[in-house]
Amino acid sequence: MTGLPLLLDLAGRRVVIVGGGSVAARRGRTFSDAGALVEVIAPAVNPELRSTAARVDERAYRSGDLAGAWLVVAATDVAAVNEAVAAEAEQQRIFCVRADAAAGGSARVPAVYATGDLTVAVNAGDDPRRAVELRNLIAAAVDAGELQARPNRPAGIGSVSLIGGGPGDPELITVRGRRLLFEADVVVTDRLAPRSLLDRLDGRVEIIDCGKSAHRHNLTQDEINAVIVQRALDGKRVARLKGGDPFVFGRGGEEVAACIAGGVPVQVVPGITSAIAAPAAVGIPVTHRGLAADFAVVSGHRDPGRAEAGWNWPELAVGPATLVLLMGVDTIDGIVSELITHGRPADTPAAAIHRATLPQQRVVRAPLVDLPSRMRDAGLGAPAVVVIGAVAALGW
Ligand SMILES: C[S@@+](CC[C@H](N)C(=O)[O-])C[C@H]1O[C@@H](n2cnc3c(N)ncnc32)[C@H](O)[C@@H]1O
Repeated sequence: MTGLPLLLDLAGRRVVIVGGGSVAARRGRTFSDAGALVEVIAPAVNPELRSTAARVDERAYRSGDLAGAWLVVAATDVAAVNEAVAAEAEQQRIFCVRADAAAGGSARVPAVYATGDLTVAVNAGDDPRRAVELRNLIAAAVDAGELQARPNRPAGIGSVSLIGGGPGDPELITVRGRRLLFEADVVVTDRLAPRSLLDRLDGRVEIIDCGKSAHRHNLTQDEINAVIVQRALDGKRVARLKGGDPFVFGRGGEEVAACIAGGVPVQVVPGITSAIAAPAAVGIPVTHRGLAADFAVVSGHRDPGRAEAGWNWPELAVGPATLVLLMGVDTIDGIVSELITHGRPADTPAAAIHRATLPQQRVVRAPLVDLPSRMRDAGLGAPAVVVIGAVAALGW
C-alpha cells in the first residue's frame, strides 16, 4: 500500500476493537494510551484488554456494531469475521486496521517512537518485526544524541530543566535527561556532570561551565541562579546539567527556588546519585540482607571538630548500618577519629571510591581506622565516595 502517514487525534473518540485475545489487548493499549475510548466486542476478553477498555461487550460481532466509530481494529482469530468487520468499515467510511492481514484493511498501525515533542512512525512493507527493529535503532540513536532531534524553532517560552547527570559515565544519565540536554539552547554544566556528553552537543548550543576544577568555581551559586533564570526569560531552553542527583548535595533546591521566584517554568530530572553508584561500581550494595538494613548519606564538607558544623557523632557512629560520605576526602581523618571515639568499631570495613564509573576509577579498601592513611598512600584524592560499614567488605 502507498499510504500516507497521519497523526490522528483520538482523544475521546470511539475506537472499536473486535477480538479479545493478546493481539487485541496490545492494540487496546496503543489506542487507550492515545486517549481513545476503546470499546471491545468479543465473546471472551483478555483481562489486560478488559482493564484498558472503556467498554466491553462480551458477545460475537454483529453487523452494525461499528456505527459511530472513528476507527476499528479487526483482531479476531477468525479470518471471515475480520473480513466482515473490514467490509462494514469500508461501507461506513471508517478506517480499519486488520491484525491478521494488513492489506485487507484501510489503515496500518506503525511502530512508534515518541519522546518529548518528537514522534517517529515506521512502517516497513507491513512487516511488523522489521518496523520495530528500525524504530528501535532510531530510538537508540536519538536517545544517544547520535541523531540530533533538537528543535529548530525557538522555544517560545523559556524553561529550565535541572538534570541529574549521574556519576559521570555518559550511559548513566536518564533517557529524559539526555533528551532534554540535546534539545537545549543553553547548557549550564558542573564539573562532575557527565562532560563527555557535551562534545555531542550541536555547535549552536551555548555552554556555560560553572566549575573547571575543585574549589575553584567560575560562577558563584548566585551567579548560576541568575544566569539560568535570565536565559529562560530570554526564551531559551536551559539544561542545568549536574553530577549525580540534583537534590543530593547539589544545591538543586536553591536553583528551583530561584526559577520559581523568577517566574520561570522549571522541572527536575532525577539522576543516579554517586552515593549509590560509586559503591555499586565496585560491587558494594549500600543495603544487604543480614548486613545493613539502613544507610545514611552524609556530607563531609564541614569541619569534624566543630560542634556548630552540625555533626551528630553519637547517632552517626552507632546509627545507620552503612555510612556513605560525600565530599569527605579533606576531612577524612577527623571524621574517622570521631566515629571510632563514639563507638564505630575501628575494624569496620571501609572503602573509598575515586572517580567512580569513569576510566580513572580507583578504589582503596581498608579497616576504618586505617582508611585515611591508606588513601594518602595511594594518592587517592577528590572526588571520592567513602563507604563505611559491613557492606564495604563486599564486591570486588
Ligand atoms: C557536591 S557533591 C554532589 C553530589 C551529587 N549531586 C550526587 O548525587 O552524586 C560532590 C561529591 O560527590 C561525590 N562524587 C560525585 N561524583 C563522583 C564520582 N564519579 N566518583 C566519586 N565521587 C563522586 C564526591 O564525594 C564529590 O565530592
